Amino acid sequence: MKNLLVTGGCGFIGANFIHFLFEEIGFDGRVINVDSLTYAGNPENLADLPESARQQYHFIQADICDENIMARVFDDFDIDTVCHFAAESHVDRSIVTPDAFVRTNVNGTFVLLELARRRLDKLNLFHHISTDEVFGELGDEGAFTEMTPYNPSSPYSASKAASDHLVRAYSRTYGMPVTISNCSNNYGPCQFPEKLIPLISLNALEGRPLPVYGDGKNVRDWLYVRDHCRAIWTIMQRGERGETYNVGGRCEKTNIDVVQTICRLLDDIAPPLAQGARESLITFVKDRPGHDFRYAIDCSKLERELGWVPAESFESGMRQTIDWYLTHQGWVDRVISGEYQKWVDQHYQS
Ligand code: NAD
Ligand code: TYD
Repeated sequence: MKNLLVTGGCGFIGANFIHFLFEEIGFDGRVINVDSLTYAGNPENLADLPESARQQYHFIQADICDENIMARVFDDFDIDTVCHFAAESHVDRSIVTPDAFVRTNVNGTFVLLELARRRLDKLNLFHHISTDEVFGELGDEGAFTEMTPYNPSSPYSASKAASDHLVRAYSRTYGMPVTISNCSNNYGPCQFPEKLIPLISLNALEGRPLPVYGDGKNVRDWLYVRDHCRAIWTIMQRGERGETYNVGGRCEKTNIDVVQTICRLLDDIAPPLAQGARESLITFVKDRPGHDFRYAIDCSKLERELGWVPAESFESGMRQTIDWYLTHQGWVDRVISGEYQKWVDQHYQS
């Protein structure tokens, strides 16, 4: 892996992955980060890469759906490996604007696959980042395995399912070296505050209402983002080509449990609120249409075959996450006020 194309590297998981590559792995090739900087993309997430990485890191503001620009990226940087994060990623938005999800998640992935196919002789790996949401919802029992049939519920998960199928088809039909990871819900530093954990944390910090959809009994399986990054790297290094790996934290929580945990953590370490304990801010709101009841990942294949296990517990991961948001008030203010867009305009005139 000399020239690694990372798509969506300015988003939550992509940025954590690039930090991980330089800070934990000591990656010695070039990282070419292509990100179109949608509302969720923030180059500030990578502003503090170590000095030693500067020579190796390249940022290009581009849309993965733009075949001409992406063809130039593949050629100019002689790309041999792809790690594909770029996506529209929020279920609630996909209910309102599904077109953007089909465009980036399906068409964008197709563009990348076609360009990778043109240089199959040079391609070491196309790693596709996906989600457990492609499997649909579970009842009270059981967990998703790699063999669970796809049954997506939302435009987001349907678009990710479509992209997974395309990646598998390129492996079967053209012999493209691919791996796919389907991961459960992530949390950690740099997550855009539209997702449950950062949204609730920031609202609870400021004493704003904490919206819980429906009765709060829906279950998600949480994984600290660095553990996901390590899983991705492990699969890229040692995963069998053509294979899919489920990634999860064995950490099922109801949403109300997560929200209460955040309230208690903040009551412990943040300034007290005039309203009293933060749990009093919990507000049950109208449920999400098509809201999947429960996700749970069986990641025994990844554990057994590649020896990966998560390093963080929910408690340790949540502490680090809350600490990060508390000590990055500037990041939070810029993201919330849209001011980081000005920062983007100053730093990356296109
Ligand atoms: P995110 O929304 O934080 O980041 C997505 C990034 O992709 C942003 O930087 C955005 O600017 C970029 N992007 C969007 N459209 C683009 C386009 N057309 N061209 C170029 N760049 C574009 O998302 P995330 O939470 O970091 O998720 C990353 C990947 O991981 C996604 O593929 C998502 O489906 C998957 N995933 C996420 C989770 C989770 O809990 N967040 C769990 C499992 C899998
Ligand atoms: P989210 O972070 O959007 O991830 P996903 O929908 O991909 O699982 O939501 C996690 C869970 O939290 C999901 O069951 C919906 C719920 N939720 C709320 O109850 N309130 C909120 O404000 C948000 C954003 C999510």
